[in-house]
Amino acid sequence: MAELRIEALRGAAIATRLDALAALRIRVFRDWPYLYDGTLAYETKYLQMYVQCPRSLAVLVWDGAQCVGASTVLPLADAPRDMQQPFLDAGLDLAPIDYFGESVLLREYRGRGIGVKFFELREAHARELGLRQCAFCAVERDDGDARKPAGYVGNDAFWHKRGYRKVPALRTTLAWPDVGETASSDKPMTFWLRDLETA
Ligand SMILES: CC(C)(COP(=O)(O)OP(=O)(O)OC[C@H]1O[C@@H](n2cnc3c(N)ncnc32)[C@H](O)[C@@H]1OP(=O)(O)O)[C@@H](O)C(=O)NCCC(=O)NCCS
Repeated sequence: MAELRIEALRGAAIATRLDALAALRIRVFRDWPYLYDGTLAYETKYLQMYVQCPRSLAVLVWDGAQCVGASTVLPLADAPRDMQQPFLDAGLDLAPIDYFGESVLLREYRGRGIGVKFFELREAHARELGLRQCAFCAVERDDGDARKPAGYVGNDAFWHKRGYRKVPALRTTLAWPDVGETASSDKPMTFWLRDLETA
């Protein structure tokens, strides 16, 4: 396999890669536990939050002309209200928190450290902006769900190892249509947090 190339884009420059980002999200999130039946129309609207935020960062991984991975981040203070709401409800200050969007990588490129790199680059983004905490949210699925593939290993151990802790009190819901559904349904999402060390 040829060497992979990492591209880092900020704010408005992310608009040049919206199609690649959207296609990747739709493909990777179609799998368990997301089961997201995505559309380009929804994606284009959703991804505007990164384009319109001058402090956002999107990291794309390229294998030649193919975008095979991506990861995004923006300050929580610049994120949509529904992402902020659980923090506001808990009386937390949004200002020091960097909000991690998605990390998506095609299956054949997994297991060689790119996921760890995504965390390192987004944590560096937080430090550059003088932010002190990183947060992301993850979907909660029923363990007994028949759609869960046999042998599926989730990301929890990986996230713990990166220093993140699940904060059950910080919860929200996001709506999307599962594969096979005709309408969106609410999915419970729980936030994970990490305090960055201060120098
Ligand atoms: C999450 C994701 C980006 C991780 O990417 P990755 O490049 O495979 O991750 P890495 O190679 O950096 O490995 C991360 C950890 O998982 C472990 N791991 C990776 N592949 C593994 C495998 N097949 N079996 C067991 N462990 C594995 C690695 O050993 C590493 O653990 P370590 O920190 O103890 O070394 C990728 O799996 C993915 O796109 N998943 C689907 C989408 C998703 O769940 N995104 C996260 C929420 S938005």
